Amino acid sequence: MREKLYSSLQKRIVALTLVVSLTPLLILGLALYRQFERTVVQNARGQISYRVQTLGEAIDLFLKERNAVLSAMADTHTFEEMAREERLTQILNIMNETAGAFVDLGVIDAAGSHVAYVGPYDLKGRNYNDQTWFAEVLSKGIYKSDVYMGFRRLPHFVIAVRRHSGGAPWVLRATIDPDILGDIIRSAQTGRTGDAYLLNRAGVFQTQPRFRHRILEEAPLDTEQFGGRVTVMEQANAEGQQRLYAGSWLKDRKWLLVIEQDPKEPLQDLFAVRNVEILIISLGVAAIIATVVITTRLMMSRLRSADHKTRELNAQLVESDKLAALGKMAAGVAHEINNPLAVILQQTGWIEDLLSEEDLRASANFDELRQAAAKIESHVERARKVVHNMLGYARRMEPRLEDVDVNQTVDQTITLLESFARSNSIDIQTDLAGDLPVIASDQAQLQQVFFNLISNAIDAIGKNGLIEIRSRRDGARLFVSIADNGPGISPERQKKIFEPFYTTKTDGKGTGLGLWVTHSIVEKMGGAIRLASQPGKGTTFTVELPIVIPEKK
Ligand SMILES: Nc1ncnc2c1ncn2[C@@H]1O[C@H](COP(=O)(O)OP(=O)(O)OP(=O)(O)O)[C@@H](O)[C@H]1O
Ligand SMILES: [Mg+2]
Repeated sequence: MREKLYSSLQKRIVALTLVVSLTPLLILGLALYRQFERTVVQNARGQISYRVQTLGEAIDLFLKERNAVLSAMADTHTFEEMAREERLTQILNIMNETAGAFVDLGVIDAAGSHVAYVGPYDLKGRNYNDQTWFAEVLSKGIYKSDVYMGFRRLPHFVIAVRRHSGGAPWVLRATIDPDILGDIIRSAQTGRTGDAYLLNRAGVFQTQPRFRHRILEEAPLDTEQFGGRVTVMEQANAEGQQRLYAGSWLKDRKWLLVIEQDPKEPLQDLFAVRNVEILIISLGVAAIIATVVITTRLMMSRLRSADHKTRELNAQLVESDKLAALGKMAAGVAHEINNPLAVILQQTGWIEDLLSEEDLRASANFDELRQAAAKIESHVERARKVVHNMLGYARRMEPRLEDVDVNQTVDQTITLLESFARSNSIDIQTDLAGDLPVIASDQAQLQQVFFNLISNAIDAIGKNGLIEIRSRRDGARLFVSIADNGPGISPERQKKIFEPFYTTKTDGKGTGLGLWVTHSIVEKMGGAIRLASQPGKGTTFTVELPIVIPEKK
């Protein structure tokens, strides 16, 4: 029942402490992780947007440079000059030296005819009059094509500018090798999943993407979704994988630069952080659980032993309460009986005196009368002894303190019993320590203690034996032991001998109060009484008393 109570209490304490200490830890861990995640995701968006913007600016710069070089050549040379191919070759060389990436250069007259061309293709004499790009360059003065496969099956694109000569327009046109552009873009194809490419308005790859597609294939991405300059968005790609896209239109708004990546990739570092965090939290949790369980166990065992002690103490209290009540009652009864006993004894003495008179001796019942008187006398004697012991018990309630020499008290007690012992051939030997101090105690009660113990020893021996009495000091306590070589006391009897009215002495020889009184006197004095007995060999009672030094008068 109690064990159940303890274990449920222990469980409750452990559970409550764990909940109270672990909840904030777990909430904190989770909140920290969420906050980290949000920061990382935001960072990733910020970064990809910044990258697409700077890369877009680099590409714009590349195109602007090529346009500037082409325009500068058209501005600084006349149509006639350019129409001469050796001059055009020189100009192409200068352009490649200053900017690079020019594959060929051609001059087209107002009718759309290629009048001069230097480069790897055989384009001289071709007419572009009916082509849309030609109309566009004539009307707008500048033109850039999408990427396309040329005759050499290599992707490239063209730029063109229009000038006037003598009122008639002419066009200077150059093919650009997109490889350098590709190199710039490839620098943004980073990480495990990062990709970067250019798309035209129709969503066709203008550069080689890193994964799955080829240049000039159509991308599975709607370019219409990208507005303004830089747009960042997350959506699934054709394979159903979630992707983070950042798009930036180039200045002429014909090409869209796109950088894409797995939105989870920047979280990889965070996963490592999370694992460390989980490890730390797990260790913390384990430490907390261990501490809580161990402390609670310790607390419970302390509680258990304290509880046990309290219960024992309570039982002792109840016991001594009972004894005190018994003592009071005994004192009352003894006092009431003492007076009638005295009267009976007196009257019996008188009857005996009468019986000795002459005329009564002649009576027929004289002997019976005398026997009756003797019986009355012996029984009253016994009753007086009981009453005496009971009164002794009652008196013990308030012991007197006087200077007591314990050795001397022992000697006096022996003197009282010596002749009785000698008549039964019992030898009493003593071995008393010389260093016993005088203590503050009650001499009469102490004498009663020794008297009870020595007379018990004489009774136990019966005839022919030895009683040894020793005294010694050990620190703040002194010990007096009374050892006899009588029949000893069996373990079962040892449990009972201190109970009141327990006696083995027949014919009313013993009251059974001797040891009970002895025990309570010694206890009252703050001492203890111990018993060691071996049936068949003998018994030793040891009285242990505290050394209380008397106050100086
Ligand atoms: N030294 C001893 N050796 C063996 N038995 C003993 C010894 N002292 C006591 N006893 C046993 O303990 C019992 C109780 O002793 P206790 O002194 O209380 O009463 P009692 O001696 O029988 O009666 P009373 O003291 O009134 O004469 C005795 O009857 C006896 O059986
Ligand atoms: Mg006795």
